Formats: sequence, C-alpha cells, structure tokens
Amino acid sequence: MQLSWRVFRNPATMQRLLRPRPYKADSQSSPGSAMFRAASSASILLLATALTAHAGGDPALGKHVFNRCIACHEAATDRDKVGPHLMGVVGRTAGSAESFLGHYSEAMKGAGAAGLVWDEANLAEYLKAPKLKVPGNKMAFAGLTNDDDIANVIAYLKADPKP
Ligand code: HEC
Repeated sequence: MQLSWRVFRNPATMQRLLRPRPYKADSQSSPGSAMFRAASSASILLLATALTAHAGGDPALGKHVFNRCIACHEAATDRDKVGPHLMGVVGRTAGSAESFLGHYSEAMKGAGAAGLVWDEANLAEYLKAPKLKVPGNKMAFAGLTNDDDIANVIAYLKADPKP
C-alpha cells in the first residue's frame, strides 16, 4: 500500500501510467511478426545449409567430374587400371593400395611413407596440381582447374560410389 501511495504521489510515474499504451511498439512483438522472424531465420538456416552442402561438394555432380578420371581409375570397385583403384581413397595413405603396390612410382610410395594421407585437403591439392603435390609421381593428368569440380569429385569418392 505504501508503494502505490508513493506511485500516485509521483507525477512522473502518474504520467507514465496514464499515457496511452504504445501499440506500435507492442505490435513489433506480436505473434505475427515473431512468426515472420522465425520464418526468415529458417530461410537463413536453409541458405546456410545449402552453402555448406556446396562447400562440401555434391557427389552427384562429382560422378560427372569422375568421367575425366575413369580412363585410368575405378572408384566403385577395387579393380586397378592404369592407375590404382580409388575405392575408399579418402583417408587412405598415398601409394598404399595393396593391389597396385608393384605399379606405384617411387615418388608416390615415398610420399605415403613420409606420411601423406589422402584426406580431403590433400586430395584437393593433389587434384589441382598433381605434379606439385607429389613431385615425380606418374599420374599423366594435368589437374582440375575448377574448385567446384574438385570439391564435387572428392564428395563422390567419399560417398563410397556404386557403379
Ligand atoms: C591418364 C591416367 C590418369 C588419369 C586421367 C587420372 N589419374 Fe589418378 N593416377 C594415375 C596413376 C598412374 C596414378 C599412380 C601415380 C604414381 O604411382 O605415381 C594415379 C594416382 C592417383 C591418386 C593417388 C592414389 C593412391 O593410391 O595413392 C589419386 C587420389 C588419383 N590418382 C585421383 C585421380 C582423380 C580423382 C582423377 C580425375 C580427376 C585422376 N586421378 C585422373 C593415372 C591417372
């Protein structure tokens, strides 16, 4: 009671109490605008997901890029061609496919012995510039120039491709 008495005696507080409610400010937090905010953050989330998927590469697009490798590599089976099979190559040590051990260059086997593992970053560098990443290796391929192609083909190799 003492409190309300003080409120009524204070002119500033009285003024605040008597002022019409600020409907405009209130409408900003109405359920409608909250839904709008939720909807727009959902679309931002979707956009972010799409961008992340892009950054991680698209296996379906990568299957097309792999057409440039297929003369020399099999990815869906462990059959070697001119090059070693690439089944499960993501995470594999360079120069270590059992069935191809007699065919790797010394450079590729040496790189593996020195610790080169085909994680996504190393694969990306190798596919961009094979001769720079593993000097002296015998892959007769100039490299992929397009970063999207590289990300996509790695996504394809990583997705454990089926024929
Ligand atoms: C003209 C044939 C040829 C083409 C085309 C080719 N490669 Fe190769 N690739 C090879 C050979 C041969 C090796 C083994 C190199 C060595 O031992 O020095 C190799 C090695 C590799 C390795 C290392 C494998 C391991 O076991 O260490 C990867 C990864 C690879 N190639 C990916 C690709 C991808 C992806 C493409 C297509 C974008 C491609 N290559 C295109 C012939 C080719």
